[in-house]
Amino acid sequence: MIYKYCGKSGLQLPMMSLGLWHNFGGIDSYENARAMLRYAFDQGITHFDIANNYGPPPGSAEITFGRMMKSDFAAHRDELVISSKAGHLMWNGPYGDGSSRKSIMANIDQSLKRTGLEYFDIFYSHRYDGVTPVEETMQALSDIVRQGKALYVGLSKYPFEMGQKAYKILKENKTPCLIYQDRYSMLSRDVEKQNLGLAAAEGAGFIAFSPLAQGLLTNKYLKGIPENSRAAKDSGFLQKSEVNKTVISKITKLNDIAKQRGQSLAQMALAWTLRDEKVTSVIVGASSVAQLEDNIAALNKLKFTQKELKTIDQILLLSE
Ligand SMILES: NC(=O)c1ccc[n+]([C@@H]2O[C@H](COP(=O)([O-])OP(=O)(O)OC[C@H]3O[C@@H](n4cnc5c(N)ncnc54)[C@H](OP(=O)(O)O)[C@@H]3O)[C@@H](O)[C@H]2O)c1
Repeated sequence: MIYKYCGKSGLQLPMMSLGLWHNFGGIDSYENARAMLRYAFDQGITHFDIANNYGPPPGSAEITFGRMMKSDFAAHRDELVISSKAGHLMWNGPYGDGSSRKSIMANIDQSLKRTGLEYFDIFYSHRYDGVTPVEETMQALSDIVRQGKALYVGLSKYPFEMGQKAYKILKENKTPCLIYQDRYSMLSRDVEKQNLGLAAAEGAGFIAFSPLAQGLLTNKYLKGIPENSRAAKDSGFLQKSEVNKTVISKITKLNDIAKQRGQSLAQMALAWTLRDEKVTSVIVGASSVAQLEDNIAALNKLKFTQKELKTIDQILLLSE
């Protein structure tokens, strides 16, 4: 594993982290989840990314992780960087959603209980909710650190202006933002416009979620939608409509370049997301140990030639 300092902090993160959004919930096989977590850790993946609402049902990914912590990872707490988040719908009613102080405080306590942890290494505001003043959410995050419930705080999916405000308040509160988390892959490049640069300018690390575009950037959908894939499942967030002609045409061309590089498409997609120095880590998801094995091998070939990058850019701009 390759470890990288997270922004200007002294915390090192593995360049590949594992996320528990899908496949670690109460509806999923515990033995498969356990095998993936154990394999990841054995390969040097020291960072696991969770959120209060991951499941389904919401909260169950934290319960799975808590069970693992007890049975497999208890002796390794100090080798692990565990993150959780609050901000999306967790339960119905005025306090189960959004980024108010009330909701953040209730949610971190529930997350600690479900995981059985004494503290999270990183606790995120999962989103700017469009209503709560940024000052209120940031004060809650800073207080969480002061209370010893988290070591560091992070931000996820903050619009640029709200992000600017949030970094400033966290700095003034002496609990600087450790890390910024947003969607980034060959198929989603919005963060290149502002948020990636903002994180770096503020001394925060950047961690990319859905670097495989939920599986689109693998060889899985080259010939349509296979059974058991995320797009085929009712509980998956990848919509069937996202596996369209344009995407298939792009990933078919990208797959050819990956072959020329001697990599799988997944490996090339991950290496591509990591090509920018400002990116600290990618959070991959997986439904099997074999996928993780494939993905981790991306780190064996991270460099691109200028010609490859140019060809990839041209493919990504194609409309069909
Ligand atoms: N902050 C936020 O709002 C936010 C939002 C989304 C995600 N996240 C974080 O980011 C993490 C990763 O997101 P993601 O799961 O969307 O990531 P992803 O890596 O883009 O997609 C993972 C999915 O792709 C497929 N896959 C992975 N490796 C493969 C391979 N080598 N070959 C073929 N298929 C492969 C699997 O789907 P199949 O089930 O089809 O096999 C897997 O579940 C989440 O777990 C979460 O921690 C955060």
